[in-house]
Amino acid sequence: MLIHFPADFGKNGSRKERQVEWKALEAWAKSGKAKAIGISHYCRRQLDDILQVASVPVAVNQVQYHVGMGTAGRLATDDKSYMKQKGVLYQSFSPLCGPCDPPDNKELLTGSLVTTIGKHYNKTGPQVALRWLVQQGIPVIPKSHVAAHQKENSEIFDFELNEQDMALLTAATRPAVGGGPSASDSGDCGIEELVV
Ligand SMILES: NC(=O)c1ccc[n+]([C@@H]2O[C@H](COP(=O)([O-])OP(=O)(O)OC[C@H]3O[C@@H](n4cnc5c(N)ncnc54)[C@H](OP(=O)(O)O)[C@@H]3O)[C@@H](O)[C@H]2O)c1
Repeated sequence: MLIHFPADFGKNGSRKERQVEWKALEAWAKSGKAKAIGISHYCRRQLDDILQVASVPVAVNQVQYHVGMGTAGRLATDDKSYMKQKGVLYQSFSPLCGPCDPPDNKELLTGSLVTTIGKHYNKTGPQVALRWLVQQGIPVIPKSHVAAHQKENSEIFDFELNEQDMALLTAATRPAVGGGPSASDSGDCGIEELVV
């Protein structure tokens, strides 16, 4: 069970609200209703607020992260490595950019970068996009209503992208959609705040 979004009421606020939220989720988990609890869309500062009071491990932080965002600043670097350092699994939602606006929503399905790379491995664009994530140790939760797509998405553990292809995918800037660890780029997660 995850908290879908961090409480965020502005640049200087919301630490207490986030802590209250987390303690409520902990109490619920301790009553036996969840095996593991986690968060979604949290940046590192918001995670820190929770870690100050947590007595149950933060199992996962689910964030939008996919090919195209590999160089997207804090999302791609600081937050990802910080979660790892703190033992919080960094998980990619919308790994195929499904909810992105057209034409971005097709980029990781039929776009030229992923399909061209895929040809070297006899794999499809979605398989390449998903493999780029899992090869970094990032679990993915692609969604599909089509049985053949579900099967295709699961067949990503029998090949390995070479270093050059990994680098090309990391350098990609399309689709450049960032759901964030947080939409709280209102300031609550601003870089200047991270040194506080
Ligand atoms: N924490 C959050 O705030 C948050 C936000 C958004 C999503 N999520 C989670 O992330 C999961 C997946 O994200 P998502 O559904 O937003 O996006 P996604 O998995 O990136 O993309 C889904 C889209 O990709 C298509 N697709 C999937 N596999 C394909 C394949 N092999 N070939 C061609 N098309 C393929 C699907 O169409 P077909 O059905 O036609 O295959 C669907 O249109 C969801 O289950 C949701 O729980 C979490």
